[in-house]
This record gives sequence, structure tokens and C-alpha cells, in this order.
Amino acid sequence: MTAHIIDGKAIAADLRARVAGEVARVKREHGLVPGLAVVLVGNDPASEVYVRSKHTQTQAAGMASFEHKLPADVAEADLLALIGKLNRDPAVHGILVQLPLPKSIHTETIINAIDPAKDVDGLHPNNAGRLAGGFAALAPCTPLGCIILTKSVHASLEGMNALVIGRSNLVGRPLVQLLLNENATVTIAHSRSRDLPKLAAGADLLYAAVGRPEMVRGDWIKPGATVIDVGINRIPVEGGKPRLVGDVAYQEALNVAGAITPVPGGVGQMTVACLLVNTLRAACAIAGLPAPGV
Ligand code: GUN
Repeated sequence: MTAHIIDGKAIAADLRARVAGEVARVKREHGLVPGLAVVLVGNDPASEVYVRSKHTQTQAAGMASFEHKLPADVAEADLLALIGKLNRDPAVHGILVQLPLPKSIHTETIINAIDPAKDVDGLHPNNAGRLAGGFAALAPCTPLGCIILTKSVHASLEGMNALVIGRSNLVGRPLVQLLLNENATVTIAHSRSRDLPKLAAGADLLYAAVGRPEMVRGDWIKPGATVIDVGINRIPVEGGKPRLVGDVAYQEALNVAGAITPVPGGVGQMTVACLLVNTLRAACAIAGLPAPGV
């Protein structure tokens, strides 16, 4: 038996279509046009690809998209001034500062300056703290996508053993909180964890978010487990385009897992779709409307 391949592309397309439906409804019923501002500092090629995709998909969902590109040597004060302006702009309901930022800029200072109501990345301490406390919060997009993909396989995650490998603010830590909200039993592992294969052997749900190509081997995986691969690693290919691989050895895992996300075509597709969800939710909350139906 080979694993069920979780079709992130199709699930993301369905989610985007549902967001577009709700955007059309709030526009029609309340004259509200949700708006997302994306700030890109410098010209990292991977970041440029992401930002372009956010712009296209935001517009396709019927929302307003505002792009701000700043040079890599921008002064921190100028970036803070832009964020202040976006915080005050009534047409902007979501603000995303693309990470990583150049070394000369203090990422924490920038994130703390974003209005928590517009923090569609869920990185501001208000939102991270609310999420950790089990309160309603804007949660980071990639972990939200991981939960949706898992629920495409399991209607309920209650009581399941989940292993999260990776403890970043953007993925691992918030994913742990979302899994707890689903009543899963969560283990968080990372680069210093001892005996990862043993931890993985007990995991009904395995999330790999470490950024190390094919680190999770097939023989680590509990037979029948659901494997969500968050890694996007570019492997150089001589004379060709780089090959994308995840944090899981996919071909090996296919023979053991019950369900698995491919790379590309898995989690990656979900992140921007969930960003649209967060922007719609933020816009409704700021306008004092009930939460949307997505
Ligand atoms: N860089 C890679 N992924 C992300 C993300 O989800 N949000 C931001 N702001 N930057 C990123």
C-alpha cells in the first residue's frame, strides 16, 4: 500500500474559492473591501517569488493588494514609519512584512510595531500570547494550513499523538498551540532532541518543519501515520533548475505513511490561501462584523 497523497494544491484552490465568495459577500452586504499590504525589504529572489504570488492571489480573491518594496539598506526608522502609515490606513486590514529582513534591521522591533489587529502573520506578541493562552487570535498561516491538511484526512485529531519537529515562531511553536486546541497530544522536538526516530515511532501525526532536506527517513515513520512536510529546500542541480525537496525522504515515506503531503504541491500552497483567510477575518473584526464563514 502506498500512502494517500494529500493534494495541497486542490485543497488550497478550494479554500481560495471560498474566501473569494465571502469577500464578494462582505463587499455586497457591507461595502467592505479587505486589503492586504505586503512589505518586501531587499531583493532576495525566493522572497520576491512569494510576494508576487501573494499579490496575484489577493487580487484574484477580490481583495485589495498593496505592495511596498524597500531597498535592502533602508533605515529602520523609515520602515517603522511605513508600518505606522499602514497601521493608520483604513483601506489596509492586513500587514505582512516578508521575512527574513536584512541583518541591519531588528526583526523584533518591526514585528512589535505592527497593529496586532492587522497582524495577519500572527507574529506579534499579542497574537502569539493569545494563541498560547487558548484565546481567539490571528495565527500564523503555515501552521493553519497544516491543520487544514491534517483535517482533510482525520475529521478529529482528538487524542492523537502529534510530533512537531521544529520550534520556529513562524511554524513549530504556533503549530503546537493549534494542535493542542484540537485536543491532540503534542510532542515538540528540534535539532537538539535526542533519538528523533524513537519519538517519530509513536507519532500518529508527524510534522517536519526543520529546513533540512530529507532528514526524516521512511523507517522513522509509524506505519499508517499522517506526514505533513513543511520543508521547502532547494537542491542545486548542475546546469539546471534547483530541485525542491521537503524535510521528509518522500519516496521512502510513501511506502510507510498512511497519508503524506508532497513537496511541492502540499503545505506551500496552503500558506498564501490561509493568508487570504486571515486578511478576511482581520477585515471583518476591524469593521465590527461577525467572523466570516471561512
Ligand atoms: N517568509 C517565509 N514564510 C513567511 C511567512 O509566512 N511570513 C512572512 N512574513 N515571511 C515569511
